[in-house]
Amino acid sequence: MSYLFTSQRDLPEFRHLEAEPLSGALGATISGANLADDLAQDVIDEIYAALLEFKVIFFRDQEMTDEQHLRLARKFGMPQGPGSIPQVEGYPMIRLQRMDEYQTIGGDVNYHTDDIFRDYPSRMSILRGLTMPTGGGNTIWCDMEKAYASLSKPMRKFLEGLTAEQTLSKNFGPGILEGGGARAYEDMMKRNPPVVHPVVRRHPETGRKCLYVCQMTTSRILELNQDESDALLAMLLEHSYQPEHECRFFWRDNSVAIWDNRCTQHRGINDFSPAFRLMHRIPIIDDRRPSLNPDEEPRLEYDRNADFIRVEDLFVNKPELTYHVDGEEPAQGNGAAAESGNGAAQPEDEHAVEVDPGFLNKLNENRHGMVFTPGAAARLKKIPRMFRGAAISAVIAEAQKQGSAEANIAILDAVQAKRRGG
Ligand SMILES: [Fe+2]
Repeated sequence: MSYLFTSQRDLPEFRHLEAEPLSGALGATISGANLADDLAQDVIDEIYAALLEFKVIFFRDQEMTDEQHLRLARKFGMPQGPGSIPQVEGYPMIRLQRMDEYQTIGGDVNYHTDDIFRDYPSRMSILRGLTMPTGGGNTIWCDMEKAYASLSKPMRKFLEGLTAEQTLSKNFGPGILEGGGARAYEDMMKRNPPVVHPVVRRHPETGRKCLYVCQMTTSRILELNQDESDALLAMLLEHSYQPEHECRFFWRDNSVAIWDNRCTQHRGINDFSPAFRLMHRIPIIDDRRPSLNPDEEPRLEYDRNADFIRVEDLFVNKPELTYHVDGEEPAQGNGAAAESGNGAAQPEDEHAVEVDPGFLNKLNENRHGMVFTPGAAARLKKIPRMFRGAAISAVIAEAQKQGSAEANIAILDAVQAKRRGG
């Protein structure tokens, strides 16, 4: 194998793969494997070795179906079930990330490790770019091992033994409160109670230590007072997110990224709106709960033959609310209000509802002949902004599927019935 450039590291030898490092810190473009194939174990082992080495690996020109994406994911572990991001129809474990003029990258512009806000976060993520904008919409990954290693020795020592609260409310709380009100906020927090993780985590496979706080969800360091915690977190995050610790990936259609969430963080770049972008992502669970004592990380017990692990099972104290899975009875009071506008007054005549005329006009401009009723617009307006674009896109798709030129409340209800809570 050959490398276009090498850093100071000793790079692994592969039998099947070629690796081209993307930066001096992390990331490599990998060739030599067609991910749509039913790959042999030795190829999978090499891909995993490349992942441990480069922390995020990229593949070009990987046309594949959702079924093939899922087969690939299963070779690396257990997929996570539906969460708050929409799912691909028929695949509750595949996250649908669809952006257009109504829905652009929201909170994902803040650096994060996937699902760190659960007791058992994701170990890996496999993200496919199906339709990608030209030029924009890159993703940045940050090497949190390098961020830790480049701190001074006294600082590294100080961080040992500290723990931090991880909560979705840091990133999404204000938007949910503003758009959906107290009920939607309460609902989000019931589904996602704050969890605590160590500030420094030792990678269970490489043994190397990583900084385990992030911009999106780390609200405070529990052992410090608030002022100290704010100042220390600000310093750690600023120190971490610098180009010397990062790589940046330019997506094309059919690019695939696979990353190790235990030692990296990533963020999207919101520079492509209103262009269309479609991505499918499968999160793979980590059955180890990050712990101050890395030799005794609690292990998640789960059914290894299951199709996926439910997100509520990834909390030690199971949230009382659950996500809906297609084909099952909806969970009681599952809080779909935050995403569907359910709970809004049901108008007798949806055409007679008063709605912000600017919002209605915007909805009815350039929507392929689709007319939104005022009632549908009023309900869509109640959805927090971060979820609204996806809801509008789903309503348009459903109306087109039903052959309806009108996006009305019945269409909204049909979308909600399909995606309740997911
Ligand atoms: Fe992410």
